[in-house]
Amino acid sequence: MDHFDYVDGAMHVEQVPMEAIAAAVGTPVYVYSTATLSRHVGVFREALSALENPLIAFAVKANPNAAVLATLGRLGLGADVVSGGELLRAIAAGIPADRIVFSGVGKTAEEMRVALEKGIYQFNLESEPEAEMLSEVALSMGRRAPVAYRINPDVDAGTHAKISTGKSENKFGIPYDRALESYAAARDLPGLDVQGVAVHIGSQLTDLAPLEAAFVKVGALIEALRGAGHAIRTADLGGGLGVPYDPAQPMPPSPADYGAMVTRVTQGWDVRLMFEPGRVIVGNAGALLSRVVRVKQGAQAPFVIVDAAMNDLLRPSLYDAWHDIRAVRPAGDKAKANVVGPVCETGDTFAMGRDMDVVQADDLVAFMTAGAYGATMASTYNSRALTPEVLVSGDKWAVVRARPPIEALIAGDSIPDWVAD
Ligand code: LLP
Repeated sequence: MDHFDYVDGAMHVEQVPMEAIAAAVGTPVYVYSTATLSRHVGVFREALSALENPLIAFAVKANPNAAVLATLGRLGLGADVVSGGELLRAIAAGIPADRIVFSGVGKTAEEMRVALEKGIYQFNLESEPEAEMLSEVALSMGRRAPVAYRINPDVDAGTHAKISTGKSENKFGIPYDRALESYAAARDLPGLDVQGVAVHIGSQLTDLAPLEAAFVKVGALIEALRGAGHAIRTADLGGGLGVPYDPAQPMPPSPADYGAMVTRVTQGWDVRLMFEPGRVIVGNAGALLSRVVRVKQGAQAPFVIVDAAMNDLLRPSLYDAWHDIRAVRPAGDKAKANVVGPVCETGDTFAMGRDMDVVQADDLVAFMTAGAYGATMASTYNSRALTPEVLVSGDKWAVVRARPPIEALIAGDSIPDWVAD
């Protein structure tokens, strides 16, 4: 459920007309709804209400905007970060370090040092060499780092190959079958305090079965580790729950279904459970608002050329992702159209042969469910300015990331004398 609704024939976000935002900020622009964010936090938390004191650490990579993070932090969420940059952003947005977990296969010594200094809750280690490096860094600071190993359960998440992470051939985690050896080695590292187990098998999962299979493996490992004398106190079950993009597709499992499965499978684990949801919190809370530049004749269907492009919303070209495209002020008719951006690549295509509202030049369209992995994956490809972002709450709205002037992009480069001369 979201808060993008039609009032008097025009799409509003909460009480604000999308047309007003486009007029004031220009297009393309990402628009987020605070009401949807807080609703999703509430729904997710409610789904886990049978658990004792779970840590819900929002996957910052899904939407790192400071205003979004501050909103989620005020609602009590922690943060799952995968870089020093995300760590500092989460802290700058007011998320306390003791609610932060650091994931990722390539943490550098410097990133480890900063995270230790800030006092984060847990490092999710992904390899033995990483464990050795973290131990050394911690010792050099007179600290012990709280760690879990992310295990690779060799489970097929059944999602797009580019966002599957839990198969043995994927780069993530330590092999499940070698976990006991890896934990034994970690226990001997004096800079580490081994406290947990972590898993994350992929994103946009539309079936609970692979998640359950992975969690069952985590449960068995916790038992084996305790048998080997490890004091396991946390289990991080990652993120991955999918959201509905295409109304014609079956609905993904609800947070309530997910929570019921987790509650059942983790019965008796006697750990603090941790979660790293990203998309399910922010996906439906955002839309990319764009203006039709022109419509041109196509061989099969008209090309609707909009002012947003693959650099603003990469998901369709990278993953063939489907985003609903709606006219902000629908004229009533529907017809097939191809929706494309201005970037000079055929991959800069949002939809082909899509049955959608008929639109013409200057009309506004909204790409729905763009709150997750939207603005954060934007680039300046084709020397296009980074997309601005707006946060709405009730009848209030604010630009939470301004559109940078193109001059700033140009000024970012420098020409050495020996080129200029
Ligand atoms: N935890 C870890 C360790 C992750 O790698 C991810 C996502 C999450 C949590 C959050 O997963 P979520 O709940 O959002 O599914 N750019 C892609 C998605 C990449 C996801 C990467 N990892 C997309 O646009 O579909």
